[in-house]
Amino acid sequence: MLASNDPCWCGSGRRYKRCHRLADLDPGRAAAEQARRAEVERRSAAYVRPGTRTPRRSVPADIPRPDYALDPHGRPRHRETGRPKDPETIALMRIAGRAAAEVLQAVGAAVRPGVTTDELDAIAHEECVARGGYPSPLGYGGSVMPFPKSLCTSVNEVICHGIPDSTVLQDGDIVNADVTIFLNGVHGDTNATFLVGDVDEESRRLVDVTRQCLHVGIDAVRPGGSVRDIGRAIQSHAEERGYGVVRAFVGHGIGRSFHCEPQVFHYDNPQARTELLPGMTFTIEPMITIGDWHHEMWDDGWTAVTADRSRTAQFEHTLLVTEDGAQILTSA
Ligand code: MF3
Ligand code: CO
Ligand code: CO
Repeated sequence: MLASNDPCWCGSGRRYKRCHRLADLDPGRAAAEQARRAEVERRSAAYVRPGTRTPRRSVPADIPRPDYALDPHGRPRHRETGRPKDPETIALMRIAGRAAAEVLQAVGAAVRPGVTTDELDAIAHEECVARGGYPSPLGYGGSVMPFPKSLCTSVNEVICHGIPDSTVLQDGDIVNADVTIFLNGVHGDTNATFLVGDVDEESRRLVDVTRQCLHVGIDAVRPGGSVRDIGRAIQSHAEERGYGVVRAFVGHGIGRSFHCEPQVFHYDNPQARTELLPGMTFTIEPMITIGDWHHEMWDDGWTAVTADRSRTAQFEHTLLVTEDGAQILTSA
């Protein structure tokens, strides 16, 4: 019997645990895993690949920056609580929310076959700066590097946090643009998935159902209820229609911090016990898949793709809990 870290018996030179151990222990599972990888490889010509990035865009010195943007690793110095916001903060969040929605509209209007994701980033960057805002993604900390661009662009099988680059959008693609602006000391965060030219029926239906999932989640918000209600509603809506719900990324509290409590799961999670109270602000941003909901990460530490490379879509709003439900802060 070989130990996990011994060289494999097959002579590959790899450790036993990284080579034939699974095949020896569970031949059925190993064969299934190999078939999955082979299928992913077979279809690889159609997949999104990293392109070339342009240099970092600059923000005029007189535009106030979030604290993380002043840190080389992009780490926030302070993190706000998830408690209800005071009326002044809420008033500022309405302004930032509307600005984010307008920036997203401008980006969406530019989506067409032939445009690069970098060109979409340039629009988001300029539109934020024109409003006196800082594009929140720029310099935000991550596991490998701070996010290097002002917008997230996620094409086809990319679940979220795609980095804008020389990638040219093709007729038939779908692309999510995720805009966050830091304006008057608070963030507004919103995203939408856009169709590029003529898109197949299956993908159009995915995009429609994902938009519905966001609204089903918003409709589940009521003061005195819990965060869990949101995920439960979204998961039922998606799964009843045969779609998957990505687990690895969640909605989040937002305000003076880009991301804070509570975590807003998009599936039914019994751990999500936070009570919803008037004045709370958070995002709902379901990521829905045609196939399996499991994800893989690119080496850049940001780009998340579906493990089976099936297409995925997302929509996001920043919300305020009111006395009788939720109000969308990110409408234009
Ligand atoms: N806007 C994303 C969200 O919805 C976060 C992007 S983090 C970034 O939470 F660094 F990638 F921009
Ligand atoms: Co968000
Ligand atoms: Co977002």
